[in-house]
Amino acid sequence: MSAERTRYSGPITEAGVHPHSLVEQGFASDAALAAVLDRYPAALFDINLYDYDEAGQVSLRTGARGRLNGEDLLAAIQQGRLWVNLREVETGWPELWAAAMTEFGKVQRTYPGMRAVKNAGQLILSSPKARVPYHFDAAGVVLFHLRGRKRVFVYPGDEAHLAEADMEQVVSRQTTEELPYRLAFEADAQVMDLEPGQALTWPIYAPHRVENLDRFCVSLSMDFQTWPSRFRNGALYTNAVLRSRGGRPRMTDRMAGPELAARWAASLALKRAGGLKNRIARFDRDFEPEVGAADGAGALRA
Ligand SMILES: [Fe+2]
Repeated sequence: MSAERTRYSGPITEAGVHPHSLVEQGFASDAALAAVLDRYPAALFDINLYDYDEAGQVSLRTGARGRLNGEDLLAAIQQGRLWVNLREVETGWPELWAAAMTEFGKVQRTYPGMRAVKNAGQLILSSPKARVPYHFDAAGVVLFHLRGRKRVFVYPGDEAHLAEADMEQVVSRQTTEELPYRLAFEADAQVMDLEPGQALTWPIYAPHRVENLDRFCVSLSMDFQTWPSRFRNGALYTNAVLRSRGGRPRMTDRMAGPELAARWAASLALKRAGGLKNRIARFDRDFEPEVGAADGAGALRA
């Protein structure tokens, strides 16, 4: 492992915990969550059920929103083994979003030089035994933890743990965000237990995974772009196109600012021209949430 835990020379050099006040503001009570589940647009739900084999390799089943009301859906999550993600909190729950952006500002001010230019949020409700597989986000992340306890494992973002060719595939949406994972990576993990009222952030791109610690968990995952992350993502996209055409692009790790900016500009033109087709097919759904069913996953109904 290299001494640098990140391949990104941004202001966040290691994982760190910050306080936040979203719990006191009442956003994580059963009543507030049932109400938001009731009204949240079905198109903005991701419902996943993860299983792991002995080598830590993940398999995924996906759920449809189904027809449970908010209270019953909350009960199914609290009793089951589900991971429920409400996308676009900025439009789906503007009151929570406004409060979270205030908290984000406080976190950002502790990192001199950090300037987010775009933020987006996902509210994650997950069952007591849910686990999120090893992945990276092509963005900075602040994970505001609101309820329950979760253990977050953060790994070095070097070539051994996060190969650039794999990053290209994710950034150009040729695959989902799951990365090749080996149990041997565990020796390199930074491990942190999160309590309600704590927010965790880590170096941009650092791979991570999450295990709930036997309690129903609620977190707001806020991702953000800075100009350097935009340039880097654009360069990774351009490299993905070059590689798909048989090229062998230079690693973005070895590029200075002007070259990254040029590759970002090229990515805009490539995307306008059709670039790479998004190959993440719409998943067929495997189940819908049901109170009392095994893992909270009932049969799909027509
Ligand atoms: Fe993540």
